[in-house]
Amino acid sequence: MTHAALRRLGVNIDHVATVRQARRSPYPDPAAAAALAELSGADQITCHIRMDRRHIQDADLPRLRDSVQTLLNVEMAATDEMMDIALAVLAQDPHGRHHRVTLVEERPGEITTEGGLDVVTHRDAVASAAARLQAAGIRVSLFVDPVPDQVRASALPGVDMIELNTSVYAENDPSDLARIKAAAVLAQGLGLEVAAGHGLTHHNLPPLVAAVPEIVEYNIGHSIISRALFVGLDRAVRDLVDIIRR
Ligand code: PXP
Repeated sequence: MTHAALRRLGVNIDHVATVRQARRSPYPDPAAAAALAELSGADQITCHIRMDRRHIQDADLPRLRDSVQTLLNVEMAATDEMMDIALAVLAQDPHGRHHRVTLVEERPGEITTEGGLDVVTHRDAVASAAARLQAAGIRVSLFVDPVPDQVRASALPGVDMIELNTSVYAENDPSDLARIKAAAVLAQGLGLEVAAGHGLTHHNLPPLVAAVPEIVEYNIGHSIISRALFVGLDRAVRDLVDIIRR
C-alpha cells in the first residue's frame, strides 16, 4: 500500500519532440515542456531515446539532464549504443542526482513500444546492463508485462524498480487489472518498487490507481501531450496529479 501523497507522476515529453521533428524546427522544445510539466506538479520527466531517433535526439538528453528540476527517466533499449549514451549523459549530473534508465524492448518500425522486455529469455544481457548502469550511479527500472515469470526474473542486482506495461488494460480490457494487481503485489514482495505506464489517460487511470495501490509511479505521455493541445499542458498535467494523489 502506498500513501497517495507519495505516488509520483512521470511526464513523458517524447511527443513534443515528435512535433518538432515533423518540421526539423527548433520548436517546440521538449526541455521547455519538461519545465512547464514540473511547474504543474510532475515528479519526474520521462523520455524515450529510440534507435531511429524519431522524436528525442541525442542533444536533447544533456539539455534535459541539466534543466530538469526533478529527475530524468530515460527509456531505452539495452543496446551498446544506448548504454554508451546513458553512461555518458546520466552519470554526469552536475548536481549529483541519480537519474533513471528504464530498459525497454524496441522493435524497428513499431508505432510504439509493443510489449515488455523478455527478461526471462534475456536475463544475462539485462543483468549485465543493469550492473553497468548501477555502477555508474544510475537507477534501473525494467519495463515488463504483468506476467509472474517476468516479474520474478526482474529481481536482479542493480534493478530497484519495474514498470508494468498497462497497454492491454488501456486498450479496453479492464480485466487486465487483475494481472497488473497480482504482478504489482509479487514485485513488491520481491523488494521492487512498482511503476506503471503505457496508454494511460485521465479516463482509465482512476480505476487503476484505486485497484493497485502498490503502484508508486505512473509514466504517461501521449494522452498528456494530446490533451495539452486543447486544455493546455498545465491543466493536462494537474488533472493527472489530482487523480494519482486522491
Ligand atoms: N512507459 C514506457 C516504458 C514507454 O515505453 C512509454 C511510451 O514511450 C510510456 C511509458 C508512455 O506511454 P504513453 O505515451 O502511451 O503514455
